[in-house]
Amino acid sequence: MNKQNLKETIREIFSNGKGILAMDESNPTCNTRFATVGIPQTVEMRRKYRELIVTTPGLNKSIGGAILSNETIREETSDGEPMVNMLISAGIIPGIKVDMGAKTFAGFQSELVTEGLDGLRERLAEYKTMGARFAKWRAVITIGHGIPSGACIGANVHALARYAALCQEADIVPIVEPEVLMTGNHSLQRCYDVTEKVLKVLFYQLYRFRIDLEGMILKPNMVIAGKESGESNSVDEVARATVDCFLASVPAAVPAIAFLSGGQSPQEASVHLNAINKNFKDRLPWIVAFSFARAIQQPCLDAWKGQDSNVEKAQKLLHKRAKLSAAARMGKYSTSMEK
Ligand code: 13P
Repeated sequence: MNKQNLKETIREIFSNGKGILAMDESNPTCNTRFATVGIPQTVEMRRKYRELIVTTPGLNKSIGGAILSNETIREETSDGEPMVNMLISAGIIPGIKVDMGAKTFAGFQSELVTEGLDGLRERLAEYKTMGARFAKWRAVITIGHGIPSGACIGANVHALARYAALCQEADIVPIVEPEVLMTGNHSLQRCYDVTEKVLKVLFYQLYRFRIDLEGMILKPNMVIAGKESGESNSVDEVARATVDCFLASVPAAVPAIAFLSGGQSPQEASVHLNAINKNFKDRLPWIVAFSFARAIQQPCLDAWKGQDSNVEKAQKLLHKRAKLSAAARMGKYSTSMEK
């Protein structure tokens, strides 16, 4: 492991107020999103959509890293240029999602465990030759009656730590993503308690597996009430709970936290990230940025509708959401910028 390489990659990704664009939806997830806007669910349409993203003018002003799927990292634009090269020449560092998805956790109904460790060392070596400098592994924690179980948290953080160790061995920065889902009717306090517990257990496991905390990025959920809870919290309450929870559980040695959007609307995700950075700036030992998928892509996908004639309009919307997310990263976003 070359610690300096890892640090340099992280520095470049977040330089000049930039953040990460997650465009690594698995084929089934991408197809589901296409279906909601009536786009045919084919390999070619997914390729066209990814081409639209990587050729968006000016994306590199707000995006320092883009997470690709195994499909996209091997694909080319219509001009025969590898998508990865498009990113690299724009100064956007390519990353790769390496987990194989969250699967039913045997013996534990309604809980999930992420798979994908088998052969990971070899896959990382191949992705590295293709230009990937960072990776992502997403663990999913569900809140519900009597869950998450200790076994589910334990199995997921164990896999995250083994994944992170293999990445660092290969000089690839691991994005460690323990996502506590927003789905459910739980309160903000319950999300706080579960997120805190997951993070504490995670960092103990990362310590045991000898992970260099300075050479990783944490990608967590914000602390927020469940979507079906009916609880409405102010922006300041969400920002405060999120900051308190992370100060209690994330070591200051971690250079950057890059939030997922998790089903918040693009504007909600921007407002919350902005409040965290603006109102609590003096308390944050880490860069607090974004690694959004839906909160950056959704308006773009809705506008594109799979039509070539909509590409320019869709790219402008993608560019705008990336720019507003970067403004929120610096605590310089305001809702008036939405117009
Ligand atoms: P969302 O921002 O849509 O939650 O996706 C982030 C991500 O990459 C999930 O792994």
